[in-house]
Amino acid sequence: MKVHLIILLFFSLCIWTQDAAYLPSIYGMQGLRISCDTELQLKYVRNYEGSLGFDFIKIPRVLQKPIEVLVVAEKLQLFKNNLIANGINYEVFLEDVGAHIDKQFALEYDERIVNPKNEILKTFPLYNEITLYLESLQNSHSDILQTFTIGKSFENRDIIGVKISSGGSGKPALFIDAGIHAREWIAPTTAIYAIKQLAENASNSYIFDNIDIYIVPCLNPDGYEFTHRNSANRMWRKTRSTKKFSPCVGVDANRNFDFEWMTVGASSNPCSETYAGVTAFSEPETSALRDFLLSKNNTIKVYITFHSYGNFLLHPWGYTEELPTNEPTLRCVADKAENKLSQKRGTHYEIGSSTNVLYAAAGGSDDWAMGVAGIELAYTMELPSQRYGFAAPRSEIIPVGQETFEAIKIFAKYVEGVKCQDL
Ligand code: ARG
Ligand code: ZN
Repeated sequence: MKVHLIILLFFSLCIWTQDAAYLPSIYGMQGLRISCDTELQLKYVRNYEGSLGFDFIKIPRVLQKPIEVLVVAEKLQLFKNNLIANGINYEVFLEDVGAHIDKQFALEYDERIVNPKNEILKTFPLYNEITLYLESLQNSHSDILQTFTIGKSFENRDIIGVKISSGGSGKPALFIDAGIHAREWIAPTTAIYAIKQLAENASNSYIFDNIDIYIVPCLNPDGYEFTHRNSANRMWRKTRSTKKFSPCVGVDANRNFDFEWMTVGASSNPCSETYAGVTAFSEPETSALRDFLLSKNNTIKVYITFHSYGNFLLHPWGYTEELPTNEPTLRCVADKAENKLSQKRGTHYEIGSSTNVLYAAAGGSDDWAMGVAGIELAYTMELPSQRYGFAAPRSEIIPVGQETFEAIKIFAKYVEGVKCQDL
């Protein structure tokens, strides 16, 4: 009897420590906004990049803009002391990430009970609701919309997408994905909004008269489902793959693409938020995307990936501060898209290369799409949400969907062959 109890205790302890090791607690976690006055100070803060317990949301390269980082409770005091010791100013923009998330999570689930029919985009849908919705669209709009799967996730979910097409073959195409980072819930809904508009609103059919549009609205379904399970998981970013000999789960899928892999802004520590994986394309989700994009035989002209948050419209490169040779076109098309988007409700985006505007991070899907898959233009859109607290509330689903759809129209025109100056 006693022996049994000890064995039981031992195993529960193992499970407990394993859990604690891979899921940084959001309780007592704070959001800090840090302003550096000197390059030396900036360098000091950047040294924490990739460290356990530090989740950098923004690391601008220029001094004028603040850094935003989420820091776990255990590391807070020492970190703050070190900032002060180095004469670095900071403010707390989120007192308690856990409390904030709990509140939002509860609101979200209240709405689900009030709205049991779970009409799509009334709330942030669960993955099976997304799948069911796309399948229902295929049934009701089989003339223009077809679902497909690019492969399976680590936990064996089908990664579903839709092709929207007026028929014919070999047309130039626009590709959009979202949700590579699990917690960025506004990204899948924005992609679903676009799908809904294209499929259900006949006045939008001109958009795909001459091009095909592929949309994969939730590239990391395992992570996405995990963030929905309970509020303690809400901040999960990575995939959910497990490895032998490591207590930590998941890979940052946006560091896992095989282009300058692991050269900068990525971690080799499996417990880090920016863990790049054992090898490039170690994750079934990223290799599925690779295979899908390559299988389209150079028909895809523009690649767009939705993330949140930050109001950034980023183009390659994310691995170097050098600019790609087609930077003028990348910038021109982004300018036009941003201009159109901003007319909806005044939302503005900052445009530039990932490295120069946000931070250097290699192994992103955008860099790979342009650098390896030969797609002419690639963008990462960091959708807005920060002005509503850390995660956008469901009231933002439609407005963000609407304004972003305006940008999509511009990208689609470019795919169609319209020169940038005429967009
Ligand atoms: N927030 C995104 C990330 O950290 C930005 C990615 C931009 N692209 C890049 N190749 N670094 O993954
Ligand atoms: Zn992201």
